[in-house]
Amino acid sequence: MENLINLVNKLQRACTALGDFGEGSSLPTLWDALPTIAVVGGQSSGKSSVLESVVGKDFLPRGSGIVTRRPLVLQLHRIDEGREYAEFAHQPRKRFTDFAAVRKEISDETDRETGRSKQISSVPIYLSIYSPNVVNLTLVDLPGLTKVAVGEFKHLIILDNPLTFPSSNTCMILVEGQSESIVADIENMVRSYIEKPNCIILAVSPANQDLATSDAIKIAREVDPQGERTFGVLTKIDLMDKGTDAVDMLEGKSYRLKFPWIGVVNRSQADINKSVDMIAARRREREYFNTTPEYKHLASKMGSEHLGKVLSKHLETVIKSRIPGLQSLINKTIIELETELSRLGKPIATDAGGKLYMIMEICRAFDQTFKEHLDGIRPGGDKV
Ligand code: GDP
Ligand code: NA
Ligand code: MG
Repeated sequence: MENLINLVNKLQRACTALGDFGEGSSLPTLWDALPTIAVVGGQSSGKSSVLESVVGKDFLPRGSGIVTRRPLVLQLHRIDEGREYAEFAHQPRKRFTDFAAVRKEISDETDRETGRSKQISSVPIYLSIYSPNVVNLTLVDLPGLTKVAVGEFKHLIILDNPLTFPSSNTCMILVEGQSESIVADIENMVRSYIEKPNCIILAVSPANQDLATSDAIKIAREVDPQGERTFGVLTKIDLMDKGTDAVDMLEGKSYRLKFPWIGVVNRSQADINKSVDMIAARRREREYFNTTPEYKHLASKMGSEHLGKVLSKHLETVIKSRIPGLQSLINKTIIELETELSRLGKPIATDAGGKLYMIMEICRAFDQTFKEHLDGIRPGGDKV
C-alpha cells in the first residue's frame, strides 16, 4: 500500500502544478483540506537549523537578514537504500546529490520569482529529498517573523521625535529594495498558512529568551488559542544563562500545549563555521540530553530525531482522521476533472489536458488507497 504521506505530497504538488483551475473548482478547497506542517518563529530562532537537523543534511540558505523569502515545501521521502538525492518540482528531471547545489538553487529560484528585489513572495518552492535517513514528512518553511526589516542597509533614519514616538530614539531601518511593509507582509503570509484548521504548527522558540516574547507563540496563539494543533520546539537550550534551565518550559508549565514540548540542541554558528557534520551534531545532541542532570528524565522525548518521528506519526494520524472528508472532496474533484477533460477533447495532446489527466490519476490512486486504509482500520476488516 502506498504511504499516505507520499500520496498527499503528490496531490499537493499536482494541485499547485495546475494553478488556477477556475471559479467554483474543488481543487483549491482540496489543497486547503490537505494536512500540512508549517514551521514558524522569529528570525534567528533556529527554524532552518531545526529543519536541517530533522533532515540530517545542510541544504538551506543562510545569512543575516530575511533569507527565506518564499515558502519552501519540503517533502521528505524515506527510501530503503541507495544514495540520497534531492529534486525540485520546477526542475523535475534533475537529481541533486550535492546539497550545496540544492542550497544555491533555493536562493536562485527565490530570486527568479522575486527579481532579486529582496521582496517576499507567497509562491512556494517544492523540494523533495529522498534518503534512507529521513522519515516520511512534509514541512513548509516560512519566512521568519521580524519586527524590523534587517539586512543590507540603504538608509538609516533615526526618528528622534518624542511627540510622535514613545521612545526618543526609535529607529527605522530600510533595506535596499525592501519596503517597510515586508514585516506585515511576512506576518500575513505566515498567518494565511497557519490559520487553516488543517495546518499543524511547528512553533520554534529560543530557550534563551522569555517564552512570553516568542514570535512563534504569539502568532500560534492567535490562530490556535487552545494549543490543539501547535507543537512547541525549544531551541538553544545550550545557550541558556548558567543557573537557569528549560525544565518548566519543556514540561509545559510556562505555556501549555496539547502535545509535549520538544527541546533541541542545534549546531552553533561556530559549529557551522567549522563544518561540524549533521550526524556528529545529532550524536552530540543526544549526549547533551542524556548527560545533563536537569534533562536526563526527559531525554527520550528530546532531540531532532525524536521530533522528526513524532511529526511523521502525527501527520499520518491527522491524514487518516481526515480520510472520509478528503475522500468525498476527491470524488467531487474526479467528476469535475472528467467533465473538463471531455470538454477538452483529446486530453493528453494539450499541456492543460495532460496535467488534468495526471491529477485525475493521482486522485484515483488516492481514492483506492483510502479504501485500503479504511478497510485496514475498520473493526473486523482485514489488517492491512
Ligand atoms: P532561523 O533564522 O530561525 O532560520 O535561524 P537559524 O537556524 O539560521 O539559526 C540562527 C543562528 O542560531 C545560527 O547561527 C545557528 O547556528 C544558531 N542556533 C540555532 N539553534 C541553535 C541551538 O540550538 N544552539 C546553538 N548554540 N545555536 C543555535
Ligand atoms: Na521566536
Ligand atoms: Mg532561516
